[in-house]
Formats: sequence, C-alpha cells, structure tokens
Amino acid sequence: MNQAQMDFKSFIAQGIPTVLPALIRGDTNKSENTHAPKRKDILSKEEKILAIRNALRYFPKEWHAELASEFAAELKDYGRIYMYRFMPTYNMYARPISEYPAKCEQAAGIMLMIQNNLDPAVAQHPDELITYGGNGAVFQNWAQYLLTMKYLSEMTDEQTLHLYSGHPMGLFPSGKEAPRVVVTNGMMIPNYSKPDDWEKYNAMGVTQYGQMTAGSFMYIGPQGIVHGTTITVMNAFRMKLEEGDTPAGKIFLTAGLGGMSGAQPKAGNIAGCITICAEVNAAAAHKRHDQGWVDELVDNTDDLVTRIKKAKAGKEVVSIAYVGNVIDVWERFADEDIFIHVGSDQTSLHNPFAGGYYPAGLGFEESNEMMANEPDKFKEEVYTSLRRHAAAVDRNTAKGTYFFDYGNAFLLESSRAGADIMAENGIDFKYPSYVQDILGPMCFDYGFGPFRWVCASGDPADLKKTDEITARVLRAIQITAPKEIQQQMADNIKWIEEAGDNQMVVGSQARILYADSEGRIKIAEAFNKAVAAGELSGSIILGRDHHDVSGTDSPYRETSNIYDGSKFTADMAIHNVIGDSFRGATWVSIHNGGGVGWGEVMNGGFGMLLDGTDEADARLKNMLHYDVNNGIARRSWARNENAQFAIKREMERNDKLKVTLANSVDDGLLDNLF
Ligand SMILES: NC(=O)c1ccc[n+]([C@@H]2O[C@H](COP(=O)([O-])OP(=O)(O)OC[C@H]3O[C@@H](n4cnc5c(N)ncnc54)[C@H](O)[C@@H]3O)[C@@H](O)[C@H]2O)c1
Repeated sequence: MNQAQMDFKSFIAQGIPTVLPALIRGDTNKSENTHAPKRKDILSKEEKILAIRNALRYFPKEWHAELASEFAAELKDYGRIYMYRFMPTYNMYARPISEYPAKCEQAAGIMLMIQNNLDPAVAQHPDELITYGGNGAVFQNWAQYLLTMKYLSEMTDEQTLHLYSGHPMGLFPSGKEAPRVVVTNGMMIPNYSKPDDWEKYNAMGVTQYGQMTAGSFMYIGPQGIVHGTTITVMNAFRMKLEEGDTPAGKIFLTAGLGGMSGAQPKAGNIAGCITICAEVNAAAAHKRHDQGWVDELVDNTDDLVTRIKKAKAGKEVVSIAYVGNVIDVWERFADEDIFIHVGSDQTSLHNPFAGGYYPAGLGFEESNEMMANEPDKFKEEVYTSLRRHAAAVDRNTAKGTYFFDYGNAFLLESSRAGADIMAENGIDFKYPSYVQDILGPMCFDYGFGPFRWVCASGDPADLKKTDEITARVLRAIQITAPKEIQQQMADNIKWIEEAGDNQMVVGSQARILYADSEGRIKIAEAFNKAVAAGELSGSIILGRDHHDVSGTDSPYRETSNIYDGSKFTADMAIHNVIGDSFRGATWVSIHNGGGVGWGEVMNGGFGMLLDGTDEADARLKNMLHYDVNNGIARRSWARNENAQFAIKREMERNDKLKVTLANSVDDGLLDNLF
C-alpha cells in the first residue's frame, strides 16, 4: 500500500514498513521542533562499525547498502542514530483509546501513553524521541517505536512485551494477571555506570537514559512538577512564618525558568507569595511569560528593587522573572537589605559544564561559546561563580533567610567548587535539601506522593468528573484522618478543587495529586466504579512520577532523609518494581538515572489501566497498597519517626501486613564504645 494513503491503524499494524520509506526529511533532517544537542563523538572506529551493524539489525538486507551510509551520517552529525527516515508521517498525540488498533485494552492504553510522551506539544525533542531533561528517551530510535507499537497492536492479555532500553525483545507468553509490558532502561553492570558509559553504550544503540517518567511513558507535561513544587514552597513558608501569618508580600527567590524549574512561579502564585525567578536565557524567560507561567518580566536590578518594594508594601501575590543571573539578585538584595523569606535554586547543576549553569559576569552567548571552545576555562568560571553564589546566599541567610537545595545538586557542586558550604562536622552540608526538611518528613514518610491519572477517552469532561470524585473521596477521608496528616489532607483538597481553574493540561487529559496509600486506593476504587457505571466515558490509566516514597533510591534527593547508611543502596526500588509486577500493574519500569544523573539513582514506576471490572478493583487494592507501603516500611526501619507512625497505623488497618519494626537505642550507651 502507498504509505501516504495508509490510515493510522494500518500504519501501526505494519510496524517496520515493507517498502523503504522515502527520505522526506532532506539533508538537514530538521523539523521545526527543538532538537537534541549533538552528542559527544565518543566511539572508536570499530565501535562505530558496531553501532551501524546494530542499527541494521532492524531492517532487511536489501536496504542495508542505502541505510548504512545514512546511519553513518547520522552518527557523525548528531552522535546518535535516530533513524529519522522511519519517523511516522501521521500526527503524534494521545488519541482517544478506542482509536488504537489492539486486541486488549491494556495494550491500547500503553500505546496512548507512548504517543503522549512523543507528542511535540509535550516532548522536548520529539524527533529524537526525547521527552524531557535533555536526554530522557522513550526509545533510542524510530525502528524501536514502530516495532513496539506493532507488538502492542497484536498482543493478547496472555502475553508480555519485554523492552530493553527501548528495544522490544518480543512478546512472551504470560497470563492475564501479568504485566503487559516490562520496561528496563539503562540497567548497567554497576562498574559501567559513569556518565561516559551512557554516552558510549547509547551511541552503540544498546542502552538509553529513561529519566524518571519518559522511558516509562508516564510524563504528563509541566503539571507533573507543579504540585510537588507548590507543596515545597508552601511548607517552606510555614516553617519560617509565625502561626497565622501568610506568605502574601513575602519573597521566594530562586532561579531557572526551564523545563521543570519553569513550574516555580506558578507554584509560588498558588502558595500566595512574591516569587522572583532569575533566568539568564531571555528566550526561556519570554517563553514562560508568553505561556502565562510567570506574571511579569524585569531585566535590570534597579527596576527589580523598585517593583519588589511596591509588591511588598501592597502584600501582593505576584511572580516576576528577572532576566539575568540569579547572583545579581542575591547580592543586590543583601546590599539593599531587602529581606528574602525563602530561597532556593533550580539551575541545572546536575549538568554544570554543558549549559546547566551560567556563571556570573559572563553573557549568555559568551558562556555558550566558552563551554564549547574552552571547556577548561569555562569550568573554572563555573567554580568561581559558585563560590560567589554561595557567599551571596550566606549574606542573606545570616539575616534569617531559609535556604534549601532543590534537588539540582547546588550544594554538591558548590562543595566541589570549594565554596564554604559544609556544616561544622565536615560531612553534611550547612543547608538542607528540600527532601530532608520538607517532602521527606511531611510527605514521603507518611506515603504522600505524586499519584496521577489519565482519562483514556481524551474527554475534558472526564477529567473534570475525576477531579470532583477525588475531592469527594478526600473530604470523606479527612473526617477521620489523624492530626498528623490533617495539613496534607487540607492542602490536597485545595489543590484538587483549584486544579481545573489552574489550566495545567498539556497533551493527554491528565491530573497529578499527592496522595497517601489510603487516598490512592480509595480514589482509584471510586474511578473504577465510575467507569463501570458509565459515569466516565472511558477507562482511567493510573501511574505516578518516580519521585515518590517507594519507587526511587536516590541519595541526594528522594532518599536524602534516610540516615541509617542505607541511602546508597537500591533494594527498595527493585523490590517495588518486582512487587508491583505480580500484584497487578499493567506495566512496570525500572531505570538507572533520573533527575540527578546516570549512575546516581535507581527509580521504578508502574502504569495500571482501570477498565471498570472486578479484576481491576482487586488489582488496584493489592498493588497500590504495596506500591506505597514498601517505602514506608523501609523509611520506618531507617528510624524515620513519621514513617514509624504511618506503618503502625497501616498494620492496624490491614491484618495481613506485618512489618519488622526498629528498636531505638539510648545515645548514652553508644557514646564511649570506640
Ligand atoms: N526537586 C525537584 O522536584 C526538582 C524538580 C525539578 C527540577 N529539579 C532539578 O532542577 C534543575 C532544573 O531542571 P529544569 O528541567 O528546569 O532544567 P533546565 O535546564 O530546563 O532549566 C534550568 C534553567 O536555569 C537557567 N540558569 C542556569 N544558570 C543560571 C543562573 N546562574 N542564573 C539564572 N538562571 C540560570 C538556564 O538558563 C535554564 O533555563 C535540574 O537539576 C533538575 O534535576 C528538581
């Protein structure tokens, strides 16, 4: 059949085309989408040949001569082989689930989520199959996408598709209760997990970086991060303010208006403070302003000081992008004695020397040139700047500012730069991370985490209905909830009641909500009943971010508030994925790497289709319970008090749960042992 005449369903069923598609992208292979940066030229000649041999495995012999030189050119020009020629010509977006060709609805749900993660409105570099974070890939190349979609269209509910870093190894016989897809991304022998190992083995086509939600098809656009950021900002103010006081007219100073950092001004507005978010890249600042994610733009510190004095006097709730280096603001406010209540930073310091952090005193373009042409000099500039940055933060914290690390490696990189950032014991940092002070004790230890759902019908009316159902369920739970979690319940009810008005949907009809085990189970149960009763016009797909209580072992982020030495282990994430898989997940995923970098974190996730059946009801109860309580049990064993409270309460509620509890030791007994 002529490719141009094929409808969507035949395209999917075809997989790798039987006729070599025309090379319609021309020499440049560039669409209007933003594109992944050229990757390092890291392979030896022999390894490059291996990469081409590997890529040609997907295609019949008669195409090899033509494709070999084309793939070699891609490797040379982009550092990777994306197989642009095989990029589908149909529009990429999450269609209503009924439009997917599939023999089982679970498979159709996964197809919907894959397409959402590659939708140009959602994905950062869609042509290179990158959803977010610069390198968070759904697949390594278009052949993997085509084959995976074909397998999903053919699979029955007695088969499981196994994906190795995007490569579909194939359909294997399983059973109805087994996951339909098992995803692994970047699983390496531990000694081969340095950043350059990713560069090398990804270029060879044998592994990929799945970030947290890209490689598990669970990314839902910037909304995913807004709720967590709101919780963090709101609670940072609560820690700082007197009881009864409000954040109105008080300052939250931070940096970054990029992919995830761009959520900060919206979160600040929801929390009700004055947000100042510095951004050196004028294009990024203007884009966020045009999209309505930040209220105002200011491009010099004189105007900023005038504007802030007015906002403070009027107790305004407003977000302001300062187009410039954040250090300018920290220093100027210290000079002017403008009090900053809460401060943080979301520059991309997990990637400090390749565009994640811009040093003070250099222009944006000047930095970009130096990092490409004089990398050693640029590194020195970054380190000098970080020392100045930390010193400017210190001048403000000396006056009472509450500063926290936002999971972007600010403290780690500042320490490597030789900044005065260590605590007196020489081991800890002198400022806490947001997980140590806020998300860990207030959320993760009680089981609250980034639960999310997608309405498979694609109908906004379904999303509205799910918001209403959720608010009703939470209000009922709130009545008997213990005092320890009343604040979290109140915040979540406010969040869900305002979610529709905050207009955060990009791509599929999705919602995020921080909920605990009881909340997640009761909400999912109510959704499943509403599907069965026809109150919702289609099934619901559940999931979560990997930034959660149980799924992720990450010593500088999700598990930074684990103090028994086990934060450098990754047993919890592995148990989570295995445990979820036989308790009813529709798909499970485990990734090396995530927000903090390859080799620095293991994170696991799941997806689950609720189709209104009794089987779905049983699965959701069994799986969601383990998916949350696994992490609470581990946090309790690590002696986290709030987790000890939560797991004891859960054991009272469920007599099949029996968790090993930690005994505490008197400090005095240990003092003179060594
Ligand atoms: N803890 C969390 O929940 C959480 C959430 C989101 C992001 N993060 C971390 O935050 C970081 C940012 O993520 P992102 O997706 O927004 O990255 P990004 O690279 O898209 O955005 C970072 C922005 O910071 C700007 N910037 C760099 N140096 C600057 C400086 N000195 N002054 C002002 N602006 C500067 C850059 O121009 C860029 O636009 C990452 O390290 C990420 O892992 C953590």
